[in-house]
Amino acid sequence: MGGTSLTTSSKKLYSSLLSLLFFLLQSASGRELKFALLVYRHGDRSPVDNYPTDLHSESEWPQGFGQLTKIGIQQQYELGQYIKKRYSNFLSSTYKREEVLIHSTETDRTIMSAQANLAGLFPPSGDEIWNPELLWQPIPVHIVPKEHNPKLRYPIFHCPRYLKLLKETIVSSEFQLMLQPYQEFIKTISLHSGYNPETLAYFGNFKLWHVQDTLLCESIHNYTLPEWVTKDVMAKLDELTVMSVSVLFGLHKREEKAQLQGDSDLDMNPDAERPTVPMEETLDISTSSEPYISKPKITGTRKPVIANLRPGIAFP
Ligand SMILES: *[C@@H]1O[C@H](CO)[C@@H](O)[C@H](O)[C@H]1NC(C)=O
Repeated sequence: MGGTSLTTSSKKLYSSLLSLLFFLLQSASGRELKFALLVYRHGDRSPVDNYPTDLHSESEWPQGFGQLTKIGIQQQYELGQYIKKRYSNFLSSTYKREEVLIHSTETDRTIMSAQANLAGLFPPSGDEIWNPELLWQPIPVHIVPKEHNPKLRYPIFHCPRYLKLLKETIVSSEFQLMLQPYQEFIKTISLHSGYNPETLAYFGNFKLWHVQDTLLCESIHNYTLPEWVTKDVMAKLDELTVMSVSVLFGLHKREEKAQLQGDSDLDMNPDAERPTVPMEETLDISTSSEPYISKPKITGTRKPVIANLRPGIAFP
């Protein structure tokens, strides 16, 4: 969604935010657009942590670590404007509470991203204007607490089977072969960054990514970088970061890993009801010719996840 304004933040591979927008429209026929689900991440942020020898401390960032920056606010605002234009034939021109539902994870930067996005998407117009000098209006952002429902936050590390597959991936010959050409480089980075080589080479702990991400954020914001950080070093760190994502979601037993990440509330919440039909049936919304908004086809005992938030809206 809105790729052009998010190229910077899309590089930030891990952090916690996903926001969801649910656009609804009541009735229609034929191939008319009836429902849109938008998933986007937060905008540009400060580093989430630093590495031992980092030249910059947390206090040098206006709001500390892991926070949405002014660049991030601007990106989200522009993304909101883009969505407004892109869906101009679908959304009302004014804010209508029955039409949209916005979800965010429980993180400052993601909540703020959703808010900045909505400032661009629904600036008040006409009768909505309450202060002519401030063309902004409050729009609710619903927070999804991660302990209740981690579905917007991946990967899920408290699934024992997933952790086992992760460990298997790291020791797999396929991954070790990929890692081979980087062994010397990792040693060099360990020397410069202050992490010991074993810590750095263990892909499950995100330390290598911390080095890459922190340097990337610092370079975006024109902070002085240490001399050892050359273009080539950054390129290699980027490659290793991509590889660490492959470890989480790809390579060894990719499909099973994906499945374990796919229905978190059932796996993690002991109180959740178990479906009596296969998930494919309850989740088959793409092929349905029925308007699934007003009449959701949910045949299992599984409840629509979002339905309790607002009457009349069901999301299988
Ligand atoms: C960093 O410096 C460049 C070049 O001077 C400038 O265009 C850019 O706006 C600066 N970025 C920030 C975040 O200040």
